[in-house]
Amino acid sequence: MRLQGKLALITGGTTGIGLAAAKLFHAEGARVFVTGRSAATLAQARDELRGVAEVIESDAGDVPAIERLVTEVAKHGTIDIAFLNAAILHKGTLSDLDERSFDQVFATNVKGPLFAIRALAPVMSRGGSIVLTSSINAQLGMPGTSLYASSKAALVSIGRVAAAELAPRGIRVNVLSPGPTATGITAKVGLDEAATLAHLATQIPLGRTGEVDEVARAALFLASTDASFMTGEELVVDGGMTRV
Ligand SMILES: NC(=O)c1ccc[n+]([C@@H]2O[C@H](COP(=O)([O-])OP(=O)(O)OC[C@H]3O[C@@H](n4cnc5c(N)ncnc54)[C@H](OP(=O)(O)O)[C@@H]3O)[C@@H](O)[C@H]2O)c1
Repeated sequence: MRLQGKLALITGGTTGIGLAAAKLFHAEGARVFVTGRSAATLAQARDELRGVAEVIESDAGDVPAIERLVTEVAKHGTIDIAFLNAAILHKGTLSDLDERSFDQVFATNVKGPLFAIRALAPVMSRGGSIVLTSSINAQLGMPGTSLYASSKAALVSIGRVAAAELAPRGIRVNVLSPGPTATGITAKVGLDEAATLAHLATQIPLGRTGEVDEVARAALFLASTDASFMTGEELVVDGGMTRV
């Protein structure tokens, strides 16, 4: 078991990649805390994760809430792993953008993880691991993704700086950048998920989109001592979409 005795916090762990990671981290021996925001997915996750993880309602874009969350989880022991995974997608071409959407996307996808790292650093164990979920959109000029893509690019930069600042404390910080993965995230912004993923699959050398377990296994790798000599790295899990 690769996470035996470890305490792990996963933000955005009520659905999709975070939910799969919660199950995997638990199976590998970790005590797992996950967060989410919407009442419906929180309730569903509490059922699905009974005996697997503790589910906490916490807005990943609200700095005081993040600080309360870290304090609460740290009462159960030293935090060894933080998988900062919560994010929202946004679709809209440049002419469609509005300031409110910018603030929402950047609060959840950038401000939240940045201040979470700030809150976590003093209470994490030496040898701890922070994994930030970015996206291959940070590397692409996909139309209609300017807010989402730029928020994920900011996260890559934050990861690199945090890796440098936390290295003296023995805390590794790495970025995980998935490609298109079937989670329902595109349906949350009104897209036809099946059609969107089918279209994206045509651009992926392996000829298909990813499964949540495939991304969760990469998160496990970065979280565990298997990646003990890796920090400041970006691990891309995209079936070759941006690589070949
Ligand atoms: N699926 C893909 O194709 C893909 C590709 C590249 C990167 N990613 C990234 O992978 C990560 C996981 O996404 P996913 O695809 O698994 O999507 P998902 O199923 O929508 O999961 C997102 C999770 O984040 C939570 N969340 C969103 N806003 C939150 C907030 N303000 N406070 C607390 N929790 C919040 C959601 O909870 P609620 O439902 O309660 O809001 C949910 O648990 C994200 O960072 C996403 O950008 C996904």
